[in-house]
Amino acid sequence: MIQVPRGTQDILPKESYKWQFIEKKLQEIAKNYNYDEIRTPMFESTDLFVRAVGGSTDIVNKEMYTFQDKGDRSLTLRPEGTAPVARSYIENKMQHNVEQPVKLFYVAPMFRYERKQKGRYRQFVQFGVEAIGVEDPLIDVEILSMLMHIYQSFGLKNLKLVINSIGDMESRNEYNKALVEHFSPRIGEFCSDCQSRIHTNPMRILDCKKDRDHELVKNAPRMYDYLNDESKNYFETVKAKLDDLNIAYAVDYNLVRGLDYYTHTAFELMSNADGFGAITTLCGGGRYNGLLEMMDGPDKTGIGFALSIERLILALEAEGIDIPNEKGLDLYVCTMTDEARDLAGTLLHKLRNRGISADMDYENRKLKAQMKDADRKNARYTIVLGEDEIQNQSADLKNMQTGETKKLSFEEMISTMEEI
Ligand code: HAM
Repeated sequence: MIQVPRGTQDILPKESYKWQFIEKKLQEIAKNYNYDEIRTPMFESTDLFVRAVGGSTDIVNKEMYTFQDKGDRSLTLRPEGTAPVARSYIENKMQHNVEQPVKLFYVAPMFRYERKQKGRYRQFVQFGVEAIGVEDPLIDVEILSMLMHIYQSFGLKNLKLVINSIGDMESRNEYNKALVEHFSPRIGEFCSDCQSRIHTNPMRILDCKKDRDHELVKNAPRMYDYLNDESKNYFETVKAKLDDLNIAYAVDYNLVRGLDYYTHTAFELMSNADGFGAITTLCGGGRYNGLLEMMDGPDKTGIGFALSIERLILALEAEGIDIPNEKGLDLYVCTMTDEARDLAGTLLHKLRNRGISADMDYENRKLKAQMKDADRKNARYTIVLGEDEIQNQSADLKNMQTGETKKLSFEEMISTMEEI
């Protein structure tokens, strides 16, 4: 039997209402903060991710779904959304937009060839936002406050926001030198990836999944001590503004994030809830000041974050928060005879054309089973069609919540439903 590919899942109707609810809410919040939707292709040139995310990252080295198309181009299913959005900003010359920063959001599937685990999928849906075009601590704070607003608006409480500063390029270069000095004498004790990372990108050692418990990782030099004055001031301003807004956070000097484009503010949001799996990161993001220039774009900076809906749902489950199921039918038409079934078909056609959601039984079931079906489908009203109703061209419209009934001609019934 052919099954869904490993690490992917079907979202069945008993779950899809959760996704609809969440996506709608996320879109509403994005609108509050004045972010507009952008949709980019599901695949891009492989070069985009190699350059933007970084050739020494796990995402590029191990996790990309890369293929040659029939024109022999190397393409990659997008593993993340920042690089495509930055590409689009450059390609569509958004630096000339009157309003800067250009504030964009996306809800889109991402693909990473990762080891399947609770909360880790090979296809997952990210909601992400990017504010590109202005460097200002106020925007960093806007992004962080939107992030907290999102999770709190779902009722989540066990949250921990962790932030760090990666500094600017100058600070990063100094820091990398210090890391090389720190790790070099004992690099033989590290995994083979880290042994090459020390030459290509020493900061990645801090992010290694295999060596994260090594004592040298734990007592590595702190980025903060290598920040130049400008970077330090930027970080201190962001923290002070977070304090002003009473947004709680912890500083984690080892937080480097798994993508290379970050500068200055970097952050992750974790769940502290009991019962949440081993992977506790709900969301991650940060500032990327050099990214657009590195992609041959304008001298513009950006900041953003992304979260996966899969992990948001896990967090809601871990905290026992139900997502309201707003699904339901306006009207369920029960039928007693074949003639009634024909009439029901005609009525349904009229009702649905007037924007009323309606359904009937197609399995010729007994009335009792039909009523059960109406209940299961969360029908707000029902009618029963039998010989009398056909003869009188009318039926009792029953409110399923109050039990009240009202005799109405079919035309009256349709207009009443329309009004309701
Ligand atoms: P990221 O940390 O790689 O950052 O991913 C962001 C979020 O996507 C994670 O915190 C997690 O919620 C979710 N996620 C990542 N991988 C998986 C997976 N295999 N299964 C389920 N969920 C996953 C980025 O992608 C950056 N583009 C974020 C960003 C936007 N930075 C600036 N702007």
